[in-house]
Amino acid sequence: MLSQAIANYTSHRSTSDPLPSGPAPFTSSESFKLCRPGTKPKAKSWDHHLSTECRNRLPSNLKASASSVKPGLDGAPIIPQRQISLGAGRPIPEYFPWDSLELSGKQSRGAAVDEAVVMPCTRGEQDFDFAVALNYGYAAGSPQLLRFITEHIEMIHDPPYDDWETCLTSGTTSAMDTVFRMFCDRGDWIITEEYSYPGAIEAVTPLGINILGIKMDGQGLIPEDLEAKLRSWDPARGRKPSVMYIVPCGQNPTGATQSAERRRKIYQVAEEHDLYIIEDDPYYFLKLHSRSESGEDKQMPVDEYLRQLPPSYLSMDVSGRVVRLDATSKILAPGLRCAWMTCCSQIAEKYMNYTEVGSVAPSGFSQVAMYKLLDVTWGHEGFIRWLAFLSHQYRQRRDALAGMFLWLHLQSPTPRISCSSGSDCSIEKEKTALLDLEERIYNRSMENGVVISKGSWFAAEPDQLKGIKLRLTFATAPLDSFDWAVKQFADAVRSEL
Ligand SMILES: Cc1ncc(COP(=O)(O)O)c(C=O)c1O
Repeated sequence: MLSQAIANYTSHRSTSDPLPSGPAPFTSSESFKLCRPGTKPKAKSWDHHLSTECRNRLPSNLKASASSVKPGLDGAPIIPQRQISLGAGRPIPEYFPWDSLELSGKQSRGAAVDEAVVMPCTRGEQDFDFAVALNYGYAAGSPQLLRFITEHIEMIHDPPYDDWETCLTSGTTSAMDTVFRMFCDRGDWIITEEYSYPGAIEAVTPLGINILGIKMDGQGLIPEDLEAKLRSWDPARGRKPSVMYIVPCGQNPTGATQSAERRRKIYQVAEEHDLYIIEDDPYYFLKLHSRSESGEDKQMPVDEYLRQLPPSYLSMDVSGRVVRLDATSKILAPGLRCAWMTCCSQIAEKYMNYTEVGSVAPSGFSQVAMYKLLDVTWGHEGFIRWLAFLSHQYRQRRDALAGMFLWLHLQSPTPRISCSSGSDCSIEKEKTALLDLEERIYNRSMENGVVISKGSWFAAEPDQLKGIKLRLTFATAPLDSFDWAVKQFADAVRSEL
């Protein structure tokens, strides 16, 4: 029961040390978990999978010295009586041009009264000093927001090993880019679904990382194909793939969601072949395939909603081989550029080495906005209620169009290729013709007033392109425009075939 879990965290907070204050304080999920250290097995070591760049990246000396609170030998924060900094090049708050921030927003959807609420944050306040939020922050995030997110992760996923750590990211796209670089050198291979998120494909390709696409069915990646390709890996192609990037819920572009059984089989293959898993899960909470237990299409009560969520890879990860990327873009707002990831502490530390010399920390404005909304205004229950509300809203849009992502295979996809007799109509020619037809449908659809996505943008192995696929999404368009848009698109297809 969610209410019981929330009561446990409330009690835990009341007996814990106060949150560290001052600029960029060291903070760790370890301080916020209910589960006591040492009660579960530790993660395996992942040193053998790290890239050369990652091994060479050390913590930033300047950033470490600038943190106002540091971990002691036992990992607990050391809080000095008095501290004067002659070290860090950090501006004094008097020179910041903002004194306070006042956000107004929604109380929480699904509550009896959907009233507006104001969420202020001011300079010098005890709860989250706005001057601290505006200063350089700690790479893993502020203790205020990290506490809420750690509790949320433990409540939903309860990772089955001891030394897991959550840290904030500057959004999944940025985190993904870093994680690929942490695990892959030029010439290495990663595994993905045969059609995958272009953000991932476009991130790895210029790094000289190769992609091995795995066949999919209605439930996403097929474990038997994964196993067969790994078992028969030819070392002449390079180092055997050691990283798998996967989108297990509402996969982009196919919309497939893996069943619990499918996930267990894939995890098993990962264990057997020592694959590190990047679980990119921005659609986890948008439960489109279920209705309430009574069969009605209405917003579900929170406990029922939570029961229907599939087990994440993080929740079955006994070895610490999963980095789970949670996004806020689809559940709060893409412009926040603040989200979170969860993995074993060795990998989180390496990740922060990159953050310290990259984005430094997620934006202080965004952290304040999220903390004031999630922790102060909504609380855990309000957040889950919001997620159940969004699921219901998207379900209605899905029912109108048929999928968050509608992945279309054209029935008569092989374009006519004119070959003079005796000439070789090569695979290359067929591919060019396919891309040409795809381009024409795309352009014609655009002329008809409808923007679509080309299937080739999602191909893990563009050389293996077979047939024409197109992606439509209901995420953005107004509900009452779907019929018109689909008709315009259909006209475009007809006129080009
Ligand atoms: C599978 C997948 N991963 C990541 C992202 C981007 O996430 P973010 O906005 O947090 O960078 C998207 C956005 O469409 C996506 O579909």
